Amino acid sequence: VTEVELVVDGHRHVVSVPVEETLLETLRELDSPGARYCCGIGVCGTCTVLVDGAAVSSCLLLTVMVAGREITTAAGEATARTRDAFVHSGAFQCSYCIPAMALTVHAALAEDPARSAASVCEQLGGNLCRCGSYPQIREAVERLVEESS
Ligand code: FES
Ligand code: FES
Repeated sequence: VTEVELVVDGHRHVVSVPVEETLLETLRELDSPGARYCCGIGVCGTCTVLVDGAAVSSCLLLTVMVAGREITTAAGEATARTRDAFVHSGAFQCSYCIPAMALTVHAALAEDPARSAASVCEQLGGNLCRCGSYPQIREAVERLVEESS
């Protein structure tokens, strides 16, 4: 067991974790509603969080590897504008995939605010939605891109 400091959505946590514990497991133990388990093997993108602004699959990362880094989940205030665009576009059914979708879009536009909607949607290729909400998700992306221009 190792002691690790994490900053999650602006809040500092010191956690004692086994070296084999994934960041997703740690975030779930911290009751973070924005980190969600699905495939557990890096395929679906549902567990996406941002580490120092970069979108990563938290089911593949060990918590000890991200000690001291800034973790952003979709529950944080940093992504409020992106979340709002999803809500306004009705881009959800069960909503299970949506926090990860919103974070991936947020990271893509933070990296390059001049990105086209098509390019942002390409970035979403690793995020799966079992409900098939893709048309509404695309509409949310178009809304955000239009607001940014
Ligand atoms: S739960 Fe991590 S990629 Fe599916
Ligand atoms: S809205 Fe249900 S999985 Fe995407």
